Amino acid sequence: RLLIIDFGSQVTQLIARRLRELNVYCEIHPFNRVDEAFLRDFAPKAVIFSGGPASVFADGAPMPPAGVFDLGVPILGICYGQQVMMHCLGGTVERGHGTAEFGRAYVTPKDDRLPLLDGWFAEGREQVWMSHGDHVSKLAPGFQVYGTSPNAPFAITADTDRNFFAVQFHPEVHHTPKGAKLYENFVRLAGFTGDWTMASYKDDAIEKIRAQVGDKRVICGLSGGVDSSVAAVLIHEAIGDQLTCVFVDHGLMRLNEADEVVAMFRDNYNIPLIHADESDLFLGALEGVADPEVKRKTIGKLFIDVFQREAAGIDGAEFLAQGTLYPDVIESVSFSGGPSVTIKSHHNVGGLPEKMGLKLVEPLRELFKDEVRALGRELGLPQSFIGRHPFPGPGLAIRCPGEITAEKLDILRRADAVYIDQIRKHGLYDEIWQAFAAILPVKTVGVMGDGRTYDYALSLRAVTSVDGMTADYYPFTHDFLGETATRIINEVKGVNRVMYDVTSKPPGTIEME
Ligand code: XMP
Repeated sequence: RLLIIDFGSQVTQLIARRLRELNVYCEIHPFNRVDEAFLRDFAPKAVIFSGGPASVFADGAPMPPAGVFDLGVPILGICYGQQVMMHCLGGTVERGHGTAEFGRAYVTPKDDRLPLLDGWFAEGREQVWMSHGDHVSKLAPGFQVYGTSPNAPFAITADTDRNFFAVQFHPEVHHTPKGAKLYENFVRLAGFTGDWTMASYKDDAIEKIRAQVGDKRVICGLSGGVDSSVAAVLIHEAIGDQLTCVFVDHGLMRLNEADEVVAMFRDNYNIPLIHADESDLFLGALEGVADPEVKRKTIGKLFIDVFQREAAGIDGAEFLAQGTLYPDVIESVSFSGGPSVTIKSHHNVGGLPEKMGLKLVEPLRELFKDEVRALGRELGLPQSFIGRHPFPGPGLAIRCPGEITAEKLDILRRADAVYIDQIRKHGLYDEIWQAFAAILPVKTVGVMGDGRTYDYALSLRAVTSVDGMTADYYPFTHDFLGETATRIINEVKGVNRVMYDVTSKPPGTIEME
């Protein structure tokens, strides 16, 4: 496996993505969490130093762990990774002063016989993405220049005796079109064969679950979302009926969704499933509640109460399964107020493991979202299920601003189903990160046939996004929007006006509340 030492670049995760795409297993660890003992234990076959925002001149500048250059394995330094490598090995780094470079640049070869550059300079020069203030001004002993750009005379450097490579640009980003080739060459010369596949991951994961759990029972909260579903099917494949799933149905699911979840897991996969249908309990508690935060807290608390009650009825359970993903567990390096480590951890059933004295099983901890989908396909989950848009824990409650009533939820469900049907029929579903209808807390006047109507107004939303952190509204054609509005008003009683939400995030959020 390969070790990525993170110096705090915004794009470190992309390095891992590129390597995973090459079927190479890698892990990201922050520079201040790796030391000689860690290196011995991890035994990397190759190491990559990420970029980072610091300057090697800064007090307490991030440094690689002692001993890393003596491991005898190939090392690739990127941007700050290059500078820190030169700094440590006897080269010189200079401060920016007019030579800072941000954005597109072109690298030309000085000598392209470097294995790292196989097939790289096909057209004489190659576009790369630069983002640096400081730059290397004198190479460390043993290094040579293999490529230069107008502002980075040492754009590509290497010490071929030791297999140390260092580049000033970022090969992991989209704007370095042939960056993946560079990583491919690097892992090939490091001896990786690219044998890390989803099939092998699945087999390993099953073995690990069996070893961790033994003959004990596991509880898994199922929401109908991709992560918890894939986790449940994987664990079931590992330990069969030692797994019990608990589906807390808060009555805020989409049209037919609760039935589909039950059919899929209970009937199709034969997974023991408790369907706690608590719609009345949740809707009762939400009666008259209009404040978004009170709604969320009410739902969250009830969810935990119900889950705990159901779990208590499962004899001998010692483990709780969660669909935690890799981006939730990567320790990110933050530079505000000096290097520190923040961990964002994901609790689908917040704080429950501690409260219930359960140990965690998290079989997706090493995976990115698209890898979870690939694993789901490997486990035979249907594409229509795996490719579903994200759906928030509090469900339709946060798509119904103002007070929630059974009538409004019913209108919302039916309108949302028509909208999604339209999107699927036009072949747009997979281009969109998330699409949904929301019912507004106002009625407006309309005219249908010869009569006056006074019905609800709906807002439709569709966004593109990579991670849900930022988003753009989706540019539907006017024809599509017109046709969809007509269909919703004709097919869903209680709606007489449809609007399309053209707010991006920021400043809007994806959900209404
Ligand atoms: P916002 O509305 O904050 O949403 O722009 C970003 C993404 O997160 C989802 N979301 C949630 N997911 N529990 C969840 O599991 C929640 O409470 C929650 N709130 C928002 C939202 O659907 C979008 O994908």
